[in-house]
Amino acid sequence: MKTDSFRGRDFITLLDWSKEEVETVLDVALDLKQRYALGELHDHILRAKTLFMVFYNQSLRTRNSFEAGMTQLGGHAHFLDPSKIYTPALPGKEVAYSTERVSDVARVLARMGDAIAIRCYGDPVDWAYGGANEIMRNFAYWADIPLLNMEDDKYHPFQALADVLTVKEKFGEFKGKKFVMSWAYSPSVHKPRAVPQSAIIAASMMGCDTVLARPPEMALDPEVIAACEKYAEMNGASFEVTDDFEGAAEGAHVLYPKAWCPVQLFQPPVGENNPQLAQEIFDGYKDWKATPEYMALADPNAIYMHCLPADRSWEVEDDVIDGPQSVVFDEAENRMHVQKAVMSLVMR
Ligand code: CP
Repeated sequence: MKTDSFRGRDFITLLDWSKEEVETVLDVALDLKQRYALGELHDHILRAKTLFMVFYNQSLRTRNSFEAGMTQLGGHAHFLDPSKIYTPALPGKEVAYSTERVSDVARVLARMGDAIAIRCYGDPVDWAYGGANEIMRNFAYWADIPLLNMEDDKYHPFQALADVLTVKEKFGEFKGKKFVMSWAYSPSVHKPRAVPQSAIIAASMMGCDTVLARPPEMALDPEVIAACEKYAEMNGASFEVTDDFEGAAEGAHVLYPKAWCPVQLFQPPVGENNPQLAQEIFDGYKDWKATPEYMALADPNAIYMHCLPADRSWEVEDDVIDGPQSVVFDEAENRMHVQKAVMSLVMR
């Protein structure tokens, strides 16, 4: 178990962490989960420490799992609404007395607390792909305390940790497990790619046989695909990309169908900044839905995963998400345990 490399580290993407480090995080998360289940106090771990959380976007799970997690570890999490502070902005994006340069915000908060966590994607950066990740990296550059990514436009690493922890709990191992991350239909095109990208990174890093199923227009970042191919090779596992929704589900152990935006939604040079075209593309794939028939294609012990919030009746039918194969509330709870693990390791 790796123990010596965590203190002071940022957590922006799993790509920056080794497989051995991620295994340590999962082990620590399971230990903290066990203590939580037993009602064993562990509030000495981050006693009197402060986490600053800046949410440019809405959240149920992320905000509350970080706040509850910090309370359990003996510290406190501050919720910061960018519209109620001076909105942190990069040079060139500043508005007088309305924004404050990220470099200044980061250095002020670093004088008062022990980590900064940011959620930023989509509208706050006008759907310029990578713009939110740039804000995240700029915060990390200026703050000499850990920077935690609560979801940007590329990565949602804490969600991915919760996802693989759930797979580990349900199956005991990753080797030989077919993990299918699939696109599914939603009427809302304004959904970032962070969850599917981080999910396939985590699954392939841990050694699952990973499949990405998506319509061609919902292709993901080529750098992420290349990383998954590399992890699959390192693990002696497979990584496949397909546009066959039902074919991908055959024999799967994990089915994770959810919507994300088409490339056309993003601003140039990545996309076309064309929400109307994005909507037309979406509406052509309404049959990409998690139904009982879809679940029946998978292994009899397969689990249904979703990061939540789910677009019920579009992405998934109630019989599936409320059915016996669904592990969505385990995933939601596991957000708290993996976040406590990472915070304990990097903020101690
Ligand atoms: N899965 C997830 O990040 O949920 P929230 O948007 O509610 O934080």
